[in-house]
Amino acid sequence: MPIVNMKDMLQHAYEHGYAVGAFDLVSLDFLQGIVDAAERAQAPVILSLAESHFEAFDFALLMPAVEAAAKRASVPVAIHLDHGASFESAVNAINLGCNAVMVDASDKPLQDNITITRTLTEMAHDCGIPVEGELGYVPGVEGEDAERHPGEICYTTVAEAQTYVQSTGVDFLAVSIGTVHGRMQGKPELDYQRLRQINEALGMPLVIHGGTGLSDDQFQQLIANGASKINYYTALSDAAAKQILHNTSTSASSGYTGLVKDLRDAISTETERCIRLWGAAGRAEEVLARCRPWTLVEHLIVYNVEGLDTASAKKMIAEGRRVLSTIPGVREVFTGEAMKEDDKYRYTWLVRFCHPKVIDSYREHPAHVAFADNHFRPVAGERMSIDYIEITN
Ligand code: 13P
Repeated sequence: MPIVNMKDMLQHAYEHGYAVGAFDLVSLDFLQGIVDAAERAQAPVILSLAESHFEAFDFALLMPAVEAAAKRASVPVAIHLDHGASFESAVNAINLGCNAVMVDASDKPLQDNITITRTLTEMAHDCGIPVEGELGYVPGVEGEDAERHPGEICYTTVAEAQTYVQSTGVDFLAVSIGTVHGRMQGKPELDYQRLRQINEALGMPLVIHGGTGLSDDQFQQLIANGASKINYYTALSDAAAKQILHNTSTSASSGYTGLVKDLRDAISTETERCIRLWGAAGRAEEVLARCRPWTLVEHLIVYNVEGLDTASAKKMIAEGRRVLSTIPGVREVFTGEAMKEDDKYRYTWLVRFCHPKVIDSYREHPAHVAFADNHFRPVAGERMSIDYIEITN
């Protein structure tokens, strides 16, 4: 059950002066290691999937495991798309189960970043999904994440941050105040004064990208100045790589399972260290009490078809399945035929929405309107439609 609304989760962190870790995961070992750590620490956690890592795994295949891990966790979990590349990426992520999204347009000029992010926010909010925007640019210096974030640092300014948040409606703002993606070279100078001023001006949860390599003291200062979500990846990747190298030297002949032995624990140990350092340990219960649970809606239609033979009816149904499943917030479209011929209704649509808000945005979506008006309603005879909200407790 404990998939929760990330806006509620981060608002709690913001108000209580701690940060939730958003740990990028690239495999089942990462997923299990991160959730194990959150369970041991009894902490809220964000399972983060970065589009910049999608060459390393099949996002659509991994997401059901991420969702299953989140659902069976006893601690509150949010599932986030990190560094999405496009609007389409965000729709795909939402439809696969992410309940918070970021599309990274931070390398674009301010006005373009605003336009891209505002379009995203409108769509996502219509699905009940909170949005992270990034303003200013956090580059990479060294390590696998560095090449995914080329270029020079561009600091976030207070004035631009105000304009950006007002114009886009983002729920959380990722800022550039001196951190870098990937490994550090030396100790980075962080501009706490800039962070404090942004925090005073905005009064909303701020996000720090490039958590790897910062000192304990730097984390404390960031959190004291409004950082409520810290993104973290390279150090987990390095802990995993170190474990594999160790396994290679001690059990080189033991095959795959021998080489990945204890990987999950290595990832988990580093994750837990961060969770405790950032003040999230022991918060699970109060966060759960504060967060709206994440509840799906099942949009049920049972109907008969008039004036079409069975083959044509099935063609119409297949087209509907294809079109409707692309609408933002649609998790699944099940189409079915009654197993007994004399049942009152012969066909069904079971359209699963990620959030109750999708009931309205789906109804009004041009793809739904076009399909319903041109293909479905003209042939739909007697029918009944009900929206069911999931019962979770
Ligand atoms: P690090 O790899 O530096 O920890 O940064 C991760 C990150 O910011 C992902 O968005």
